[in-house]
Amino acid sequence: MEEPLKGLILAGGFATRLRPLSCSKPKLLFPIVGTPLIDYMSDWLDRGNVGEVILAVNHLSDKLRMEVAARKMGDRMALSVEETPLGTGGPLRLAASMMPGREPVVVVNGDIVSDIDLNGLTRAHMVSGAEATIAVFSVGDARPFGLVTLDSRDQITGFEEKSPKAQGPGWINAGVYVLNHSVIGMIPEGRAVSLEREIFPVLANRMKLRGWRHNGFWYDIGKIKDYVATNMDLLKRGDQLLPDMRNDVSRAADVQQPSHVGGHCVIAREAKVGPYAILSPKVEVKSGSIIRDTILFEETTIDEDCCVEGAVIGEGTRIGRGTSIGKGSVIAGEVVIAEHSAVKPGSIVLN
Ligand code: GDD
Ligand code: MG
Repeated sequence: MEEPLKGLILAGGFATRLRPLSCSKPKLLFPIVGTPLIDYMSDWLDRGNVGEVILAVNHLSDKLRMEVAARKMGDRMALSVEETPLGTGGPLRLAASMMPGREPVVVVNGDIVSDIDLNGLTRAHMVSGAEATIAVFSVGDARPFGLVTLDSRDQITGFEEKSPKAQGPGWINAGVYVLNHSVIGMIPEGRAVSLEREIFPVLANRMKLRGWRHNGFWYDIGKIKDYVATNMDLLKRGDQLLPDMRNDVSRAADVQQPSHVGGHCVIAREAKVGPYAILSPKVEVKSGSIIRDTILFEETTIDEDCCVEGAVIGEGTRIGRGTSIGKGSVIAGEVVIAEHSAVKPGSIVLN
């Protein structure tokens, strides 16, 4: 087996498109079918022969620091903290001294969920002579992404970030890269730099940028709508992301599949859970409540006789008995909703 490569996860930014859930939880800790994204990523990087990983952060880094320290993989993760946000390129320059050696570095956006074959990507990079290789994925509408133009040998001949002209299908930047140190050297020091706007187009011009086509699954969870769709799609696929621990589901409860019940959850008598209910660990659903088409973050409590449909509810929140939560609602973490409330469809409840 080859020496493991070093990795860097871009985990800064303010995750404004995931508010209010991101006000109390960094993106990397968002549950993906009940498993925090960081655990999913760390497993994926591990399988891809990535050893030490740097988390490049600025926002909420204390919470992340505590969570990382509490994990087994914490030993091989280090934080690189920016005083001011440095974009997608600046963090690499800042952390350059933490990545000595000549081996290329694996860089990933901290808001994607995929089964990209990192070993295949790295091998393709090593034999190609390119300075950077980026995983590319085919989508129906390329406008929200970085659109790449590939020739028949997978050389990238053009890179355009979020171009309004990109409407329609195309290959996009999947946010997973293998970069030579020469690329880090191209990044100016001490200011925010966009890899996508300032570095990749230059490399494409020099014919030093290659694409690696990914055909499996790939999601960006950067917006609430996409975050929900990712969870529901993965739930439907039925892949067990990571093994879960025991829970306590009453025999008189009715759990309809597809659903996910995380470890240490308690579901009481005559509760109806699912289809499409995702319960993170330590969720409690009390007697007579209905949870459908909904994502519950960890340690939420749904008291008796509630009806929760089409919602996302943040960690540690309590929904008082007899409450109904309308479709499309998003409730922040650490909120208490009083008994017998009626939360209208599409509501955003802040902490
Ligand atoms: N450390 C740090 N500092 N990280 C940052 C900063 C920063 O200042 N700004 C953004 N990031 C992180 C985000 O947390 C995210 O994980 C990643 O960089 C990409 O930023 P996004 O804001 O999520 O970009 P995007 O989704 O609009 O576009 C990017 O991802 C697409 C694929 O999902 C681009 O790379 C596109 O080209 C790509 O197609
Ligand atoms: Mg994103």
